[in-house]
Amino acid sequence: MGRKKTLVLETTAPDLRKAGEIIRRGGLVVFPTETVYGLGADAGNAAACRRIFSAKGRPGDNPLIVHLPEVFRIPLAAAEISPEAALLIEAFLPGPLTLILPKTAGISPSVTAGLPDVGIRVPSDPAARDFLRFAGVPVAAPSANLSGRPSPTTFEMAWEAMEGRADAVIRGGDCTVGLESTILRLSGGRVEILRPGKIGEGEILRVMKKKPSFPEVSGDEPPPAPGMKYRHYSPRAEVLLYLREEEIPAAELRGKKIGVLALGPGAPGGLPADVPVARAASIDEYARRLYAEFFVFDKLGCERIYAVFPPPEGIGDAVRNRLLKAAGGRFLRPPA
Ligand code: TXA
Ligand code: MG
Repeated sequence: MGRKKTLVLETTAPDLRKAGEIIRRGGLVVFPTETVYGLGADAGNAAACRRIFSAKGRPGDNPLIVHLPEVFRIPLAAAEISPEAALLIEAFLPGPLTLILPKTAGISPSVTAGLPDVGIRVPSDPAARDFLRFAGVPVAAPSANLSGRPSPTTFEMAWEAMEGRADAVIRGGDCTVGLESTILRLSGGRVEILRPGKIGEGEILRVMKKKPSFPEVSGDEPPPAPGMKYRHYSPRAEVLLYLREEEIPAAELRGKKIGVLALGPGAPGGLPADVPVARAASIDEYARRLYAEFFVFDKLGCERIYAVFPPPEGIGDAVRNRLLKAAGGRFLRPPA
């Protein structure tokens, strides 16, 4: 695919209208959401959806999720909404949750990689919703990164990944959640979390009155969310995890190209002053900045990133999931 001229569009009504027209003409538009930036195409246009796969270098067996501006439009993409699915929709949408539901005929098989089910998402971000309203069709969109890299959570990251590949990139702000949506599937009376996100186990339990399960990805069976089998979320730098800041060998950091992702106040005088440290005050801030800090550390030429492995409270579960993938499970010191 030859490189193309990519437009920058603002989040003004005339620009979002233009973005919608590009989608209806079969083009690709990068748009902000509260989770991460997405790379969108008309979900009813097979050729446009195939271009998403080539723009990202994405394997063809990894399905895309479909975005709608309003809950009442979900039937455009989902053929059937069970009473349990309706409970989840009522409780969490618009918001950072994707529901796997049976697809309608209007959703191209190239969106779902031939599966009978489709991921449905109604984002809460106002610019995303205005863009989707102007598009007027369900919009298929994966995260707007090259396959295997961290999802973009700032305009700068999205532009760097998709300039020359998409027809337009909407210049939104920084994503407020910063990690991809929670993916849920209802199957055989169970609620399955296929990908953890901001909407966590506790909130799902409260609404559904049953504990969600985490289907295992194992052996030769096709994984429940096909994307789970691929390497993900990795910056260029090697990522290593630590449980406590005291585990970081401070003396070893001097003169090395190592960045540190820290959480909480830290010990006074703990790390050398010349080490690049990104410190989050809360787990929500840590999640929000995670991918953007990976991007910054790569720009600084860091060869390694030492990242705190946070406790599983709140969005901590999802942060742990992404960090384990980025680090390939490696810790500075193996957890006891
Ligand atoms: O927050 C998000 O969900 C972002 C924004 C742009 O909406 N999108 C996103 O899409 O993260 P993507 O393609 O990067 O990740 C979607 C995941 C993949 O792991 C894919 O395998 C899984 O959802 N998935 C999509 N459709 C599915 C289906 N029908 N059944 C099971 N898993 C599905
Ligand atoms: Mg992705």
